[in-house]
Amino acid sequence: MRITVFGATGNVGRRVVAEAVSRRHEVTAVARTAVRLAGLPDRVHGGVHGGVHVRAGDATDVDDVVASIAGQDLVITATCPAPGQEGELVAAATTLLAACAKTGVRLLLVGGAGSLTVEGGGRLMDRPGYPSFLLPIASACVAQLAACRADTTADWAYLSPADLLVPGARTGRYRVGADELLVDADGESRISMEDLAVALLDEAERPRHHRTRFTVAY
Ligand SMILES: NC(=O)c1ccc[n+]([C@@H]2O[C@H](COP(=O)([O-])OP(=O)(O)OC[C@H]3O[C@@H](n4cnc5c(N)ncnc54)[C@H](OP(=O)(O)O)[C@@H]3O)[C@@H](O)[C@H]2O)c1
Repeated sequence: MRITVFGATGNVGRRVVAEAVSRRHEVTAVARTAVRLAGLPDRVHGGVHGGVHVRAGDATDVDDVVASIAGQDLVITATCPAPGQEGELVAAATTLLAACAKTGVRLLLVGGAGSLTVEGGGRLMDRPGYPSFLLPIASACVAQLAACRADTTADWAYLSPADLLVPGARTGRYRVGADELLVDADGESRISMEDLAVALLDEAERPRHHRTRFTVAY
């Protein structure tokens, strides 16, 4: 598949790029800062079957988005705004949804866990003890999901990670849920960024979610 990854130099994005390349997909890696794109480790494996093309671009810029997704089979977005700029997340989602609707390219969005519901009712982000420093990005992710749900034309799917999304091992194993936070036997909600990338590429290759949110965790 030809896959464009926005946010390709980020914690999640660079693992998505690596997972996609390891599966022999042809990846276009996009982020705003060109110098960081040049540092993508898999760039040396560029080629027709499995490789990375890099492109500086902004997911909130219509022209950049159109140029980055032309002729592609799929877009994966894992952008994260700087603190104080959280509104960019919904602007990016809106721009990507419109461009994907117009071109017929499928869109997978990486969102947040905060809006997942928890046992006993309510959202994770509304639970006592939820870190206050995470509230701005969690709220931005709520708006990002709402933008998706308001869209009835693009073929989108929104992935909310587990609560704890951390660098770790690639096990290839995970559970899939819908709108409720998945927790393990110890009550912990966790997945590695590597396995989140596996889940995204599994969804890319075998689409199971259309115009809906899903979540993955151990
Ligand atoms: N448990 C959870 O719910 C959880 C935990 C962690 C992360 N997340 C979510 O996962 C996503 C990715 O997070 P992350 O930690 O991987 O972020 P990150 O490490 O901060 O990386 C963000 C990436 O997005 C790029 N970017 C930012 N704005 C952009 C724009 N407008 N256009 C194009 N590229 C843009 C950045 O590069 P440039 O600045 O050079 O453009 C960078 O490549 C976010 O949506 C975040 O909310 C969820």
